[in-house]
Amino acid sequence: MSDDAPRSRVPGHIAVVMDGNGRWAKARLLPRSAGHRAGQRAVREIIEGCLHHGVQSLTLFAFSSENWRRPEEEISALMELFLRALDREVESLRQHDVRLTFIGELGSLNSLLRERIARAVAITAGNRKLTVNIAINYGGQWDITQAARELAAAVQRGELAVADIDQNRVAGYCQLSDQPPVDLFVRTGGEYRISNFLLWQMAYAELYFTDTLWPDFNQASLTQAIHAYANRERRYGRTGEQLAHTS
Ligand code: FPP
Repeated sequence: MSDDAPRSRVPGHIAVVMDGNGRWAKARLLPRSAGHRAGQRAVREIIEGCLHHGVQSLTLFAFSSENWRRPEEEISALMELFLRALDREVESLRQHDVRLTFIGELGSLNSLLRERIARAVAITAGNRKLTVNIAINYGGQWDITQAARELAAAVQRGELAVADIDQNRVAGYCQLSDQPPVDLFVRTGGEYRISNFLLWQMAYAELYFTDTLWPDFNQASLTQAIHAYANRERRYGRTGEQLAHTS
């Protein structure tokens, strides 16, 4: 049997909480930062897998608004890792027709990292095969709150009537409004939580949890997740019988 799910059953947008780096390192008596470095290899694997399967958008939770509570040393190691990963990978992403975008409150990041982010976004802006969104200093509640603030400002300026605020309008002010909603949410590391990730964009996502620690997640693991997704029945509030009649 082929490893490939039929194209129509491939999720258009996958969102991933990459959990388990710390435990992976601890099991090897290594510092947590070594787990994050190993996690970077898994990022490369999943990008290659998404290109292979024809996924359009991949969103990775690299650093949450809550991750600032971690030890100072781990935060600096992560920021350093992001910086080096950007420098190292941007050319390969460009060659593979991958567009890179970033979501979150980027203003709180150091200026060197912000500069590299802007550079990577500019270099890959014209790419079309796959969009990889990196969430840094991101929180789903922040996302919806900033959308509400923008909407209120538009109303205040007289550009929008309150009665015109509908779901499409709110979605338009949330992050990733130019991309399809999330079809498949993957969380590694054995926890069953959404952790304030893309709350609005995941409204109808299928949820997939695996005990695999993020550094061990590879292309075969992605194929498994896509297969699980392909076998789900997505009803969007309808009954199974109704769906059988429409398909
Ligand atoms: C969660 O594992 C992981 C993170 C907070 C960081 C994710 C970062 C990477 C995978 C590095 C590479 C990323 C990019 C975008 C280049 P954890 O530390 O909470 O693990 P634990 O639950 O085992 O402690």
